[in-house]
Amino acid sequence: MYTLLPQDSDLVDTTLFDHIARSLEQDGYAVLPNALPGSLTDRLFADFKSLEADDLKPAGIGRQADFQHNPFVRRDRICWLRGESAASAEFLAWTERLREALNRRLFLGLFDYECHYATYPVGAFYKKHLDAFKGQSNRRLSTVLYLNPSWSASDGGELVLYPPSHLEPLPVTEPLRVVVPEYGTLVIFLSEEFPHEVLPAHRPRHSIAGWFRVNTSSGVRLDPPR
Ligand code: OGA
Ligand code: MN
Repeated sequence: MYTLLPQDSDLVDTTLFDHIARSLEQDGYAVLPNALPGSLTDRLFADFKSLEADDLKPAGIGRQADFQHNPFVRRDRICWLRGESAASAEFLAWTERLREALNRRLFLGLFDYECHYATYPVGAFYKKHLDAFKGQSNRRLSTVLYLNPSWSASDGGELVLYPPSHLEPLPVTEPLRVVVPEYGTLVIFLSEEFPHEVLPAHRPRHSIAGWFRVNTSSGVRLDPPR
């Protein structure tokens, strides 16, 4: 006689996904220490360390024809995850489960997820910005997973979240939340609501930044691949 019990990992995910959905509903963001199951964070960090220097390209702003490098805005270097390594495939499978769970709980209509490794050299920053201006992008939820072993507050590189704003230029406001980019911490926030910035770090600072997107393609306009 068999009893159908969910596997432990399913239970852990369900509890976490419930918590994320509730935080997004109440606050619009969530900060989750040690979010990923098992040793996935360690395997992602090993995968990141196996990248060659020229796998990491200067990050730009804007998409396709609007794409430009602007070292006064951001100075990180990035490499998109395509699921080619076992760890990155597993991370993309986990984000797929999170996507389905959030769609079921919050009816967000999230369609896919894209993400890249990012590394900020010493002194690098990303000035205050929104990941998506309302109605101008298909990015709905931003995620950042930090890969910085033994990071302390004095190492800088904090993510600063500001209160929701749709104004352009973004107003000067008091921070809503300051997040130390500690190993294994995952931050999730509504892309169109929260201006945020990355403060200069005193050590190289590593992460996986990603975005859940909705499909806004129509007969006359195809969504860009990223
Ligand atoms: C980004 C970003 C935040 C962080 O890549 O758009 O804002 O903490 N990253 O790395
Ligand atoms: Mn951002």
